[in-house]
Amino acid sequence: MENQIKRAADLILKSRFTTAFTGAGISVESGIPPFRGNDGIWTKYDPKSLEIAWFMSNPVESWNIIKELFYDFFEEAKPNKAHLVLAEMERRALLGRIITQNIDNLHQEAGSKEVYEFHGNSKRLICLDCRKFYAVSEISLDHIPPTCRQCGGLLKPDFVFFGEGIPQTALAASYEAATISDVFLVIGTTGDVMPANQIPYMAKSAGCKIIEINTEPSNYSGDITDIFIRGKAGETMKKLGAALFTTPLDNDQDGIDQDFEIHGQ
Ligand code: APR
Repeated sequence: MENQIKRAADLILKSRFTTAFTGAGISVESGIPPFRGNDGIWTKYDPKSLEIAWFMSNPVESWNIIKELFYDFFEEAKPNKAHLVLAEMERRALLGRIITQNIDNLHQEAGSKEVYEFHGNSKRLICLDCRKFYAVSEISLDHIPPTCRQCGGLLKPDFVFFGEGIPQTALAASYEAATISDVFLVIGTTGDVMPANQIPYMAKSAGCKIIEINTEPSNYSGDITDIFIRGKAGETMKKLGAALFTTPLDNDQDGIDQDFEIHGQ
């Protein structure tokens, strides 16, 4: 692994523009299980509960599952070393932007500024009638389904449900990243889900080098990946940070690497 870390660091140090493309795997060490694989969320919950048509017809049932999945269990999740190193790379002009498939807000909480959320963000709710936004912290989820204070309409988490479109800003930023980047750092994603999974392919077609960090091979690994680093995102990014930063990570507090207990497992 050390050799791949060094090769990856050399590519990033020479790169004019590096983009990180992240999936659920980057947040596993923060206590949020992935969607697929052993113990993945979809082995316990039916993805139907996140289909927009089912949500509209069954708001109470859908919201009960959403509350349990995204708010009860994971509300306390904190950024792990991988999120922190990406934020530090941005501060040192070694990372241009993050395109994330995740809705957990952990990149922003780690300090990253240029974050584009392909699937939205679970920390915001939106009224389906008047389109007013709320921070989820403003709304009590003791009453399900939550309703808009302004018009009484149904509130929905502001993340993309199956059957919904991708936010235009994130789509445009992703297509642009695929054309302007020299390096794509792909972290913790199967590459299973359209259309997000097309972005690394577009980057590769535009001449980008693909560095991948994953505990398992993904759809990209035997295909477009130039450097595959097999390992956990937190541990691997800590090593990559050490190879990139001449001075150690400033906010290298104890305990960030601790293994968070994953609820219900
Ligand atoms: N470090 C790095 N990678 C990891 C780790 C870890 N600690 N743990 C798991 N992984 C990898 C798995 O090997 C897998 O490739 O993370 C990936 C998780 O895959 P998915 O759960 O499919 O997550 P993702 O690819 O982000 O899913 C895409 O699917 O359900 C939708 O909207 C949801 O954004 C999500 C999309």
